[in-house]
Amino acid sequence: SKEGYPHFMIKEIHESPKAVRDTISSLVSDLDVVEKISEEIRQAERVIITGAGTSYHAGLYFSLLLSREGLTAIPLVASEYYNLKGRKGDLVVAISQSGETIDVLLSIRKLKSEGAKIVSITNVIESAIARESDYKVYMRAGPEIGVAATKTFTTQVATLLFLYSYTFGKEWKSLKEADKEVEQAINLTEGFTKRIGEELSKKASVYYLGRGLSLPLAMEGALKIKEVSYVHAEAYPAGESKHGPISLVESGFPVVFINDGEMPELLKNNVMEMKARGGKIFTISVNKKIGEADTEVFLSSKFPVLSISPVIQLIAYYAAVSKGLDPDKPRNLAKTVTVE
Ligand code: M6R
Repeated sequence: SKEGYPHFMIKEIHESPKAVRDTISSLVSDLDVVEKISEEIRQAERVIITGAGTSYHAGLYFSLLLSREGLTAIPLVASEYYNLKGRKGDLVVAISQSGETIDVLLSIRKLKSEGAKIVSITNVIESAIARESDYKVYMRAGPEIGVAATKTFTTQVATLLFLYSYTFGKEWKSLKEADKEVEQAINLTEGFTKRIGEELSKKASVYYLGRGLSLPLAMEGALKIKEVSYVHAEAYPAGESKHGPISLVESGFPVVFINDGEMPELLKNNVMEMKARGGKIFTISVNKKIGEADTEVFLSSKFPVLSISPVIQLIAYYAAVSKGLDPDKPRNLAKTVTVE
Protein backbone atom coordinates (compact mmCIF):
# COMPACT_ATOMS: atom_id res chain seq x y z
CA SER A 1 0.00 0.00 0.00
CA LYS A 2 0.99 3.62 -0.47
CA GLU A 3 0.77 4.27 3.27
CA GLY A 4 -0.69 7.72 2.92
CA TYR A 5 1.51 8.84 0.03
CA PRO A 6 -0.25 9.82 -3.19
CA HIS A 7 2.07 7.68 -5.34
CA PHE A 8 4.52 4.82 -4.97
CA MET A 9 7.23 6.93 -6.54
CA ILE A 10 7.24 9.51 -3.74
CA LYS A 11 6.80 6.80 -1.09
CA GLU A 12 9.79 4.94 -2.49
CA ILE A 13 11.97 8.07 -2.67
CA HIS A 14 11.20 8.55 1.02
CA GLU A 15 12.15 4.93 1.69
CA SER A 16 15.64 5.52 0.25
CA PRO A 17 17.37 6.23 3.58
CA LYS A 18 16.14 2.93 4.99
CA ALA A 19 17.02 1.10 1.78
CA VAL A 20 20.58 2.42 1.96
CA ARG A 21 20.88 1.68 5.67
CA ASP A 22 19.65 -1.91 5.28
CA THR A 23 21.89 -2.50 2.28
CA ILE A 24 25.04 -1.19 3.90
CA SER A 25 24.42 -3.20 7.07
CA SER A 26 23.86 -6.31 5.00
CA LEU A 27 27.19 -5.73 3.20
CA VAL A 28 28.96 -5.12 6.50
CA SER A 29 27.51 -8.33 7.92
CA ASP A 30 28.87 -10.33 4.98
CA LEU A 31 32.36 -8.99 4.47
CA ASP A 32 33.56 -12.42 3.29
CA VAL A 33 31.70 -11.99 0.01
CA VAL A 34 32.81 -8.38 -0.27
CA GLU A 35 36.41 -9.47 0.24
CA LYS A 36 36.15 -12.12 -2.49
CA ILE A 37 34.65 -9.67 -4.96
CA SER A 38 37.33 -7.11 -4.08
CA GLU A 39 40.00 -9.71 -4.85
CA GLU A 40 38.38 -10.38 -8.20
CA ILE A 41 38.23 -6.66 -9.01
CA ARG A 42 41.89 -6.18 -8.09
CA GLN A 43 43.00 -9.17 -10.15
CA ALA A 44 40.80 -8.63 -13.19
CA GLU A 45 42.43 -7.57 -16.43
CA ARG A 46 39.26 -5.72 -17.33
CA VAL A 47 36.12 -4.96 -15.41
CA ILE A 48 33.03 -4.80 -17.63
CA ILE A 49 30.00 -3.22 -16.02
CA THR A 50 26.69 -4.02 -17.64
CA GLY A 51 23.17 -2.76 -17.00
CA ALA A 52 20.18 -1.10 -18.65
CA GLY A 53 18.56 2.28 -18.09
CA THR A 54 18.99 3.52 -14.58
CA SER A 55 21.12 0.51 -13.67
CA TYR A 56 23.46 1.38 -16.54
CA HIS A 57 23.89 4.84 -15.04
CA ALA A 58 24.87 3.29 -11.71
CA GLY A 59 27.33 1.14 -13.64
CA LEU A 60 28.77 4.12 -15.47
CA TYR A 61 29.38 5.78 -12.11
CA PHE A 62 31.22 2.67 -10.89
CA SER A 63 33.28 2.48 -14.07
CA LEU A 64 34.47 6.05 -13.52
CA LEU A 65 35.53 5.24 -9.97
CA LEU A 66 37.51 2.23 -11.20
CA SER A 67 39.09 4.06 -14.15
CA ARG A 68 40.29 6.72 -11.80
CA GLU A 69 42.18 4.01 -9.93
CA GLY A 70 43.87 2.93 -13.15
CA LEU A 71 41.74 -0.12 -13.82
CA THR A 72 40.49 -0.95 -17.26
CA ALA A 73 36.77 -0.47 -16.67
CA ILE A 74 34.29 -0.73 -19.52
CA PRO A 75 30.70 0.42 -19.06
CA LEU A 76 28.43 -1.60 -21.31
CA VAL A 77 24.85 -0.77 -22.23
CA ALA A 78 23.50 -4.29 -21.79
CA SER A 79 21.54 -4.39 -25.04
CA GLU A 80 24.79 -3.70 -26.96
CA TYR A 81 26.49 -6.81 -25.61
CA TYR A 82 27.33 -8.15 -29.09
CA ASN A 83 29.84 -5.33 -29.53
CA LEU A 84 32.14 -6.64 -26.85
CA LYS A 85 34.10 -9.86 -26.94
CA GLY A 86 34.77 -11.25 -23.51
CA ARG A 87 37.81 -13.24 -22.47
CA LYS A 88 39.46 -14.94 -19.54
CA GLY A 89 40.58 -12.30 -17.06
CA ASP A 90 37.38 -10.31 -17.49
CA LEU A 91 35.19 -9.62 -14.52
CA VAL A 92 31.64 -8.60 -15.33
CA VAL A 93 29.63 -6.61 -12.83
CA ALA A 94 25.96 -6.95 -13.80
CA ILE A 95 23.63 -4.44 -12.21
CA SER A 96 19.87 -5.01 -12.29
CA GLN A 97 17.21 -4.07 -9.81
CA SER A 98 14.82 -6.80 -10.93
CA GLY A 99 17.50 -9.32 -11.82
CA GLU A 100 15.32 -10.30 -14.78
CA THR A 101 16.12 -7.78 -17.53
CA ILE A 102 16.68 -9.84 -20.66
CA ASP A 103 19.38 -7.59 -22.12
CA VAL A 104 21.45 -7.92 -18.96
CA LEU A 105 20.89 -11.65 -18.84
CA LEU A 106 22.00 -12.06 -22.46
CA SER A 107 25.07 -9.90 -21.87
CA ILE A 108 26.26 -11.99 -18.95
CA ARG A 109 25.55 -15.25 -20.78
CA LYS A 110 27.63 -14.17 -23.74
CA LEU A 111 30.54 -12.82 -21.70
CA LYS A 112 30.50 -15.86 -19.44
CA SER A 113 30.66 -18.21 -22.41
CA GLU A 114 33.73 -16.27 -23.55
CA GLY A 115 35.51 -16.78 -20.22
CA ALA A 116 34.40 -13.94 -17.93
CA LYS A 117 33.45 -14.28 -14.29
CA ILE A 118 30.20 -12.66 -13.21
CA VAL A 119 29.30 -10.61 -10.16
CA SER A 120 25.67 -9.55 -9.95
CA ILE A 121 24.08 -6.80 -7.92
CA THR A 122 20.32 -7.26 -7.77
CA ASN A 123 17.44 -6.48 -5.47
CA VAL A 124 15.66 -9.81 -5.89
CA ILE A 125 16.95 -12.97 -4.24
CA GLU A 126 17.53 -15.83 -6.65
CA SER A 127 16.53 -13.73 -9.63
CA ALA A 128 17.59 -15.08 -13.04
CA ILE A 129 20.67 -12.86 -13.20
CA ALA A 130 21.70 -13.76 -9.66
CA ARG A 131 21.32 -17.47 -10.43
CA GLU A 132 23.69 -17.24 -13.38
CA SER A 133 26.39 -15.31 -11.49
CA ASP A 134 29.54 -16.51 -9.75
CA TYR A 135 29.13 -13.95 -6.97
CA LYS A 136 25.82 -12.48 -5.84
CA VAL A 137 25.31 -9.22 -4.02
CA TYR A 138 21.79 -8.46 -2.89
CA MET A 139 20.58 -4.99 -2.23
CA ARG A 140 18.06 -4.61 0.57
CA ALA A 141 15.96 -1.86 -0.95
CA GLY A 142 12.68 -3.73 -0.44
CA PRO A 143 10.11 -4.04 -3.22
CA GLU A 144 9.89 -1.16 -5.68
CA ILE A 145 6.45 -0.82 -7.26
CA GLY A 146 6.80 2.46 -9.17
CA VAL A 147 8.07 1.90 -12.70
CA ALA A 148 10.73 4.56 -12.19
CA ALA A 149 13.75 3.26 -10.33
CA THR A 150 14.25 5.51 -7.30
CA LYS A 151 15.35 3.99 -4.02
CA THR A 152 16.97 1.14 -5.92
CA PHE A 153 19.24 3.54 -7.86
CA THR A 154 20.40 5.24 -4.67
CA THR A 155 20.98 1.79 -3.18
CA GLN A 156 22.90 0.57 -6.24
CA VAL A 157 25.20 3.55 -6.04
CA ALA A 158 25.66 3.04 -2.29
CA THR A 159 26.54 -0.61 -2.89
CA LEU A 160 29.04 0.28 -5.62
CA LEU A 161 30.58 3.00 -3.49
CA PHE A 162 30.97 0.46 -0.71
CA LEU A 163 32.64 -2.10 -3.01
CA TYR A 164 34.91 0.58 -4.42
CA SER A 165 35.88 1.98 -1.01
CA TYR A 166 36.55 -1.47 0.41
CA THR A 167 38.58 -2.56 -2.62
CA PHE A 168 40.79 0.50 -2.70
CA GLY A 169 41.35 0.93 1.03
CA LYS A 170 39.16 4.01 1.35
CA GLU A 171 37.07 4.84 4.36
CA TRP A 172 34.12 2.46 3.94
CA LYS A 173 32.97 2.44 7.56
CA SER A 174 31.53 5.93 7.27
CA LEU A 175 29.06 4.55 4.72
CA LYS A 176 27.22 3.10 7.72
CA GLU A 177 26.02 6.67 8.28
CA ALA A 178 25.24 7.36 4.62
CA ASP A 179 21.49 6.99 5.10
CA LYS A 180 21.51 10.20 7.13
CA GLU A 181 22.87 12.15 4.17
CA VAL A 182 20.12 10.76 1.96
CA GLU A 183 17.48 11.62 4.50
CA GLN A 184 18.79 15.13 4.91
CA ALA A 185 18.86 15.69 1.16
CA ILE A 186 15.19 14.69 0.91
CA ASN A 187 14.11 16.79 3.86
CA LEU A 188 15.97 19.90 2.77
CA THR A 189 14.95 19.89 -0.87
CA GLU A 190 11.26 18.97 -1.05
CA GLY A 191 10.29 22.63 -1.45
CA PHE A 192 12.97 23.46 -3.98
CA THR A 193 12.43 20.36 -6.07
CA LYS A 194 8.69 20.97 -6.20
CA ARG A 195 9.25 24.45 -7.60
CA ILE A 196 11.89 23.29 -10.08
CA GLY A 197 9.76 20.34 -11.17
CA GLU A 198 6.76 22.61 -11.74
CA GLU A 199 8.84 24.96 -13.80
CA LEU A 200 10.45 22.24 -15.92
CA SER A 201 7.07 20.61 -16.51
CA LYS A 202 6.11 23.64 -18.61
CA LYS A 203 9.14 23.29 -20.88
CA ALA A 204 9.43 21.29 -24.07
CA SER A 205 13.04 20.35 -23.50
CA VAL A 206 15.78 20.55 -20.86
CA TYR A 207 19.50 19.86 -20.63
CA TYR A 208 21.17 18.14 -17.70
CA LEU A 209 24.89 18.83 -17.54
CA GLY A 210 27.62 17.51 -15.28
CA ARG A 211 31.30 16.66 -15.24
CA GLY A 212 33.18 13.67 -13.90
CA LEU A 213 31.23 11.65 -11.37
CA SER A 214 28.27 13.99 -11.87
CA LEU A 215 27.79 12.91 -15.47
CA PRO A 216 25.99 9.64 -14.65
CA LEU A 217 23.75 11.66 -12.34
CA ALA A 218 22.98 14.14 -15.09
CA MET A 219 22.11 11.20 -17.34
CA GLU A 220 19.90 9.74 -14.66
CA GLY A 221 18.21 13.09 -14.01
CA ALA A 222 17.41 13.38 -17.71
CA LEU A 223 16.13 9.81 -17.97
CA LYS A 224 13.91 10.21 -14.93
CA ILE A 225 12.19 13.44 -15.96
CA LYS A 226 11.73 12.11 -19.50
CA GLU A 227 10.32 8.83 -18.23
CA VAL A 228 7.70 10.15 -15.82
CA SER A 229 6.88 13.66 -17.03
CA TYR A 230 7.40 13.34 -20.81
CA VAL A 231 9.55 16.47 -20.86
CA HIS A 232 12.29 15.90 -23.41
CA ALA A 233 15.62 15.89 -21.62
CA GLU A 234 19.17 15.27 -22.69
CA ALA A 235 22.33 14.91 -20.66
CA TYR A 236 25.82 15.88 -21.73
CA PRO A 237 29.21 16.20 -20.17
CA ALA A 238 29.12 19.92 -19.38
CA GLY A 239 32.28 20.61 -21.39
CA GLU A 240 30.88 18.79 -24.39
CA SER A 241 27.80 20.98 -24.48
CA LYS A 242 29.65 23.69 -26.36
CA HIS A 243 30.36 21.28 -29.21
CA GLY A 244 26.84 21.37 -30.60
CA PRO A 245 24.06 21.22 -27.99
CA ILE A 246 24.46 24.88 -27.02
CA SER A 247 22.99 25.98 -30.34
CA LEU A 248 19.54 25.10 -28.96
CA VAL A 249 19.91 27.40 -25.99
CA GLU A 250 17.95 30.61 -26.25
CA SER A 251 16.06 32.80 -23.84
CA GLY A 252 14.35 30.67 -21.18
CA PHE A 253 15.86 27.32 -22.23
CA PRO A 254 16.29 25.35 -19.00
CA VAL A 255 19.64 23.85 -18.06
CA VAL A 256 20.12 21.80 -14.90
CA PHE A 257 23.71 21.59 -13.70
CA ILE A 258 24.78 18.76 -11.41
CA ASN A 259 27.68 19.89 -9.28
CA ASP A 260 29.06 17.30 -6.88
CA GLY A 261 31.60 19.83 -5.65
CA GLU A 262 34.57 18.37 -7.50
CA MET A 263 34.95 20.90 -10.33
CA PRO A 264 32.86 23.97 -9.50
CA GLU A 265 35.18 26.37 -11.35
CA LEU A 266 35.02 24.45 -14.60
CA LEU A 267 31.27 24.10 -14.29
CA LYS A 268 30.97 27.79 -13.67
CA ASN A 269 32.44 28.44 -17.12
CA ASN A 270 29.70 26.29 -18.62
CA VAL A 271 27.05 28.04 -16.54
CA MET A 272 28.27 31.39 -17.87
CA GLU A 273 28.15 30.12 -21.46
CA MET A 274 24.55 29.00 -21.04
CA LYS A 275 23.56 32.18 -19.23
CA ALA A 276 25.02 34.33 -21.96
CA ARG A 277 22.51 32.73 -24.36
CA GLY A 278 19.61 33.38 -22.02
CA GLY A 279 19.48 29.88 -20.52
CA LYS A 280 17.50 29.43 -17.34
CA ILE A 281 19.98 27.88 -14.92
CA PHE A 282 19.17 25.44 -12.13
CA THR A 283 22.09 24.09 -10.13
CA ILE A 284 22.16 21.19 -7.73
CA SER A 285 25.32 21.75 -5.76
CA VAL A 286 26.97 19.75 -3.04
CA ASN A 287 29.69 21.12 -0.78
CA LYS A 288 30.75 23.92 -3.14
CA LYS A 289 28.49 26.46 -4.77
CA ILE A 290 28.82 27.59 -8.36
CA GLY A 291 26.76 30.77 -8.05
CA GLU A 292 25.29 32.56 -11.09
CA ALA A 293 22.23 30.30 -11.25
CA ASP A 294 18.58 31.33 -11.25
CA THR A 295 18.05 28.65 -8.60
CA GLU A 296 20.84 26.85 -6.75
CA VAL A 297 19.95 23.99 -4.46
CA PHE A 298 22.82 23.59 -2.01
CA LEU A 299 23.61 20.65 0.24
CA SER A 300 26.58 19.55 2.31
CA SER A 301 27.34 15.87 2.22
CA LYS A 302 30.08 13.30 2.69
CA PHE A 303 28.58 11.33 -0.18
CA PRO A 304 27.53 13.78 -2.88
CA VAL A 305 26.22 11.07 -5.21
CA LEU A 306 23.85 9.74 -2.56
CA SER A 307 22.53 13.21 -1.78
CA ILE A 308 22.01 14.23 -5.40
CA SER A 309 20.19 11.02 -6.34
CA PRO A 310 16.91 11.71 -4.47
CA VAL A 311 16.98 15.35 -5.55
CA ILE A 312 16.88 14.57 -9.28
CA GLN A 313 14.16 12.01 -8.59
CA LEU A 314 12.04 14.50 -6.67
CA ILE A 315 12.33 17.02 -9.52
CA ALA A 316 11.07 14.39 -11.98
CA TYR A 317 8.27 13.38 -9.63
CA TYR A 318 7.01 16.90 -9.16
CA ALA A 319 7.26 17.63 -12.87
CA ALA A 320 4.99 14.63 -13.57
CA VAL A 321 2.53 15.47 -10.82
CA SER A 322 2.21 19.09 -11.87
CA LYS A 323 1.23 17.89 -15.35
CA GLY A 324 -1.42 15.68 -13.80
CA LEU A 325 0.39 12.49 -14.83
CA ASP A 326 0.63 9.29 -12.84
CA PRO A 327 4.38 8.88 -12.27
CA ASP A 328 3.91 5.29 -11.14
CA LYS A 329 2.72 4.17 -14.56
CA PRO A 330 4.46 6.01 -17.37
CA ARG A 331 3.04 5.10 -20.77
CA ASN A 332 4.74 2.44 -22.92
CA LEU A 333 6.84 1.12 -20.04
CA ALA A 334 6.90 -1.99 -17.91
CA LYS A 335 8.70 -2.36 -14.61
CA THR A 336 10.75 -5.21 -15.96
CA VAL A 337 11.74 -5.47 -19.59
CA THR A 338 11.89 -9.10 -20.68
CA VAL A 339 11.90 -8.66 -24.46
CA GLU A 340 14.96 -7.91 -26.57
O1 M6R B 1 15.51 -4.15 -13.31
P1 M6R B 1 16.62 -3.43 -14.00
O2 M6R B 1 17.45 -2.60 -13.07
O3 M6R B 1 17.49 -4.34 -14.81
O4 M6R B 1 15.92 -2.43 -15.01
C1 M6R B 1 16.66 -1.72 -15.94
C2 M6R B 1 15.83 -0.61 -16.59
O5 M6R B 1 14.78 -1.15 -17.34
C3 M6R B 1 15.28 0.37 -15.57
O6 M6R B 1 16.28 0.89 -14.76
C4 M6R B 1 14.55 1.52 -16.24
O7 M6R B 1 15.45 2.32 -16.94
C5 M6R B 1 13.80 2.34 -15.17
N1 M6R B 1 12.37 2.27 -15.37
C6 M6R B 1 14.21 3.78 -15.10
O8 M6R B 1 13.55 4.45 -14.08
